[in-house]
Amino acid sequence: MKRPIRAFFIAFFNASALALVQPLAVVPDAAAAEVQVLHWWTAGGEASALKELERTLRAQGVQWRDVPIAGGGGAQAMTTLRARVLSADPPTAAQMLGFDIRDWAAQGALQDLTPLARSGGWAQRVPKALQAFDTDRGRWVAAPIDVHSSNWVWANKAVLERAGVHRAPGDWGAFISDLDKVRKAGFVPLAAGGQPWQIATMFDGIVLSVGGPAFYRRALIELQPAALDSAAMRTSFTRLRALRSYVDGEYANRDWNVATGMVIDGRAGFQMMGDWALGEFNHAGRVPGKDYLCLRTPGTQGSVTFNSDAFVFFDVKDRAAQARMVDDVMSPEVQARFNRVKGSAPALLGVSPAGFNACGAKAIADLAEADRAGTLMGSMSQGYAVPPAIQHAFYDIIARAFDGEITPAQAAAQLAAAARARY
Ligand code: GAL
Repeated sequence: MKRPIRAFFIAFFNASALALVQPLAVVPDAAAAEVQVLHWWTAGGEASALKELERTLRAQGVQWRDVPIAGGGGAQAMTTLRARVLSADPPTAAQMLGFDIRDWAAQGALQDLTPLARSGGWAQRVPKALQAFDTDRGRWVAAPIDVHSSNWVWANKAVLERAGVHRAPGDWGAFISDLDKVRKAGFVPLAAGGQPWQIATMFDGIVLSVGGPAFYRRALIELQPAALDSAAMRTSFTRLRALRSYVDGEYANRDWNVATGMVIDGRAGFQMMGDWALGEFNHAGRVPGKDYLCLRTPGTQGSVTFNSDAFVFFDVKDRAAQARMVDDVMSPEVQARFNRVKGSAPALLGVSPAGFNACGAKAIADLAEADRAGTLMGSMSQGYAVPPAIQHAFYDIIARAFDGEITPAQAAAQLAAAARARY
């Protein structure tokens, strides 16, 4: 799959809308070549997945300068990135999601990857749902490395057995009764952290479970006021609020991976979290079906609320190393290795599920099924459903509803008002 470095460089030279700083002949020597990569993959599973990409580049003579900015969901990373770009010190590449990519592209801040995309056949190899975010006015501006989704539940098998739960809950009623059993058996029923993006991640699955995919789309993607301020949305908030009683008292500032650790270690029964949690189970050497269970949020099997991590690229001197990185990110072989560790599905179509564990294979199969059925939809919590300003207003409302500061009826009305105010 590898193309020679000269071809990348020529393609990248053509790709650049900006003046090339150095003549084509002056390809930086291997020792000088470096990429600086800004991301928020600081949890164990995330960092070891990224190592796969780093290893590949190092083997090609490209040094890796890691710029990790902790904080799930990436809000802090985006703040740091903005500051660096504004002070004319951009990294080579940055991890980015959905509507943020659109915003940065609209500002003209991202490198045009179109020639590389053309020669790599990306248009045929990347699902259309992702292309909608990775392209801007017909130009490729982002290289997607994975597809995650938010409507998952993770469970510790031994804890469930101790609580007398012998099969995964298939609907919401069964889920609540299992949470009760886990509590009675003396475990934390639901591991969670109070950061608003984590509560919003749970809420994605709840809305989908209550109203089904058509409702999710009308409410959280199309922002129809009648869907946002509706009986189904009030029910969603009632269910969200009910979950609060299953979370322990220490939850306020807990990071998502610490919550996953509670399930891995057998202190908690369940966690509702995207499949980056699978990366943590992988990292801890746990085996699906034996040590833990992965299931779609009860009532949502058949639908997938996705988010895809993509890399965007900035105007830096070392274009050859940058082009190398683009090519590696879009290599099926690198994506297979990266995603097996990360817990996500490859962003490239047709990468074999061989070597993925049962949960990884399920992610790949569910994604393909939802794509065929038209039930593959952007995740609100991860920036793939609505623009950042609305997303963050929603985060705030959802977090306050979870804590009981506002009623389900107030929360539903506030969602509609927030969407109206920003449209
Ligand atoms: C998501 C990202 C995932 C994972 C998660 C927690 O936004 O898409 O790859 O890193 O945050 O950090």
